[in-house]
This record gives sequence, C-alpha cells and structure tokens, in this order.
Amino acid sequence: MLKVKLLLRKNIEKVKAYQPGKPISEVKRDLGLRRVIKLASNENPLGPSPKAVSAILKALSQLHRYPESSCFYLKNRLAKRFGLEENNFIIGNGSDEIIVLVLRALLNPGEKVLIAYPTFLIYEIQANACGAKVIRVPLCRFRYDLKRMKEKITPEVKIVFIANPDNPTGTYVTDREVKEFMEDIPEKTLVFFDEAYYEFASGLPDYPRSLDFLGKKNIIVTRSFSKAYGLAGLRIGYGIGSPDLIGYLERIREPFNVNSLAQVGALNALEDKDFLKKTLKTTQEGKKYLYQEFEKLGLTYIPSATNFILVDIGRDSAEISGELLKKGVIVRAMNAWGLNNFIRVTIGTQKENEKFVKELKRIL
Ligand SMILES: Cc1ncc(COP(=O)(O)O)c(C=O)c1O
Repeated sequence: MLKVKLLLRKNIEKVKAYQPGKPISEVKRDLGLRRVIKLASNENPLGPSPKAVSAILKALSQLHRYPESSCFYLKNRLAKRFGLEENNFIIGNGSDEIIVLVLRALLNPGEKVLIAYPTFLIYEIQANACGAKVIRVPLCRFRYDLKRMKEKITPEVKIVFIANPDNPTGTYVTDREVKEFMEDIPEKTLVFFDEAYYEFASGLPDYPRSLDFLGKKNIIVTRSFSKAYGLAGLRIGYGIGSPDLIGYLERIREPFNVNSLAQVGALNALEDKDFLKKTLKTTQEGKKYLYQEFEKLGLTYIPSATNFILVDIGRDSAEISGELLKKGVIVRAMNAWGLNNFIRVTIGTQKENEKFVKELKRIL
C-alpha cells in the first residue's frame, strides 16, 4: 500500500479532526426516528432571521454569478454601525475562517500559541496544522485564568486566544480582568478576542469592550452570524482589526471565500432587530427554565453568558448523550474536552427544552 504518511508535513499527523455535532437527518436515518431535536451546536432554535431569508430568496436568480469578492456592502454596513472604516473589517466563511487566516498569516513553524484549556477546539487544531507549539493554561473554576495566561507570555508567543464568552463553559472574562491582562502586552503578541456569542453577553454590565484596544494594541475581534442571527448554515462571520493587519489577512484569503447568499443574508440579518430581540428573549427564558430544572434534579451547571449550558450529570456523558439520542434529543457529550461527566446543551425553544428535560429525567 502507498504510504501517504511519507508525503505529509511534519505536524499534520498530530492534528485531530474536529468532531461536529451530529446533523438531524443523520440521527433520523440511523435510529429510524421521526422527530429529532438538535441542542448540540449552539444554533438558533428559532430558525434563520426572516429578513435574511426573504432577501436570500430574491438573490437566488443571480447564483450563476461569482460573489462580490470584497464583501463591500457588508463591510460598509458594519463600518457605519461601529463607527470604523471598511478596511477595519474582514469577512470570513464563518468566523472560523478568520482564526485560520490569522494563524497562517502570523505563525512561523515552532512559534507558540497560548490557549486556555478546555476551550474552543479549533484554536488548537488549526495551530497544530500550522506547526505551532500550543501552550494550554487550565481554566480556573471553569473560567479563563487570565493572570496565569499572562505569566505564560514569552517572546515566542505570537497569538493568545480569548473566547469571550467561552465555549464549552459559557463563562466570560470581565472588563477589569481584560484591562489588567492587556497592560504591557508585548507588541509582538496578537490578542485574538473570539466573540462568537457577543450578542448574548454584551448586555452584561462588566462585559469588556474589546474594541477599545483597537489602534492601541495588536488585537483582532471576531463575531459570527451563526448564533444570534441564525445563519450557521450560510457560514459567515467577521473580524475587526487595524487596517494594517486586515490588509495582510486579505492578501491570503481565497478570492471568493464568502458566498453571495451569505453576504445578502448577513446584510439583512443585521437589520432584523425584532428577530435578535426575540432570540435573546427565548434564550433568557429558556436559560431560566433549564437552570430551575437542573436544580430540581440536583445537577450542577455552570452559569452561562451564552445560548448553551454546561452541566455536570454525574455520569459518563457519552453514555447519557447516547441515551438521549435514542429518544431523539442531540446534545454534546464533553468527553472530547476532557469533561467526562458533562454535557453541553444548547438552549432551545420552550418545547424543545421541555422534551430534553423530560428525557433527561427519565434517563437519570
Ligand atoms: C467560541 C467559538 N468561536 C467561533 C465559532 C465559530 O463560529 P462560526 O460559525 O462563525 O465559524 C464557534 C462556533 O461554535 C464558537 O463556539
């Protein structure tokens, strides 16, 4: 047999593939179920933004054209909204793509990337793919330990990832913690604020304003249309940084990285204030309900600033999530993060939350 291994770049072998949440159709097919609810990937349970959908339907007739490569209109709208310039923005095929672009643009082989552990898995997977050395700093009580992370910054540390709020814990770092962390951050280190769940957390009084560091420190802030705007299937997110940094990222991105429907969808979702309001309300109410139910069951959960909750079920999570799956409820077992007794459940509609609780009760 031919040995592909011989062809590989040195570091590729140690890259572990990301395991996504199971799609509904696959579970239905495998288990012969008619009704399945997915509470595994922190998607919006209300569906996509209706304004985005109606704009997309109108745009379908132009699918024979390549998309607008620079995402000009979306950048223009974002620039107005943030009081910045178009060249402060890069649009990605999901905010995930911006993580990859930053790693590719900045890292030389052997340089270091600092992450918390556990946190969003993509940082480590993609840093490994770029040949970086990844330094993990354990969470402290399910929160980023920014003090310890700062102690680990050496001249070789090129990028520090801060998921705020974090996935899978749902916790966030505060304004004060971030300000202390950012003091004396070396110019040679980029701080990457991943704010995929920004809309759910930004109302908190001590949630940091990471954009205040723009122009003062080397930072990038990413946000997503996948969560609060309900456009996960379109794959679109954006990064905000200095024109200098954004310019280099633009050089290495693929020419048509963001498809035309995603651009139209995002542009219109941004204007869909009613949908965003409804999403935040559903999340708040669902969170309250689930907290109460967990308490009744005597389960410990981590208070969340996002649209999902990490909960300690006191038993092997792969086993429990397997049981839930058989009942048509997909949640995320946390074994891959080393949290063997935890599941992560996305806050669904009230009906979905009730079904999840009913099945969980039965299993436990
Ligand atoms: C912390 C965090 N960052 C980034 C992403 C990626 O989001 P996107 O769909 O915009 O690529 C996710 C998705 O789950 C996430 O949890």
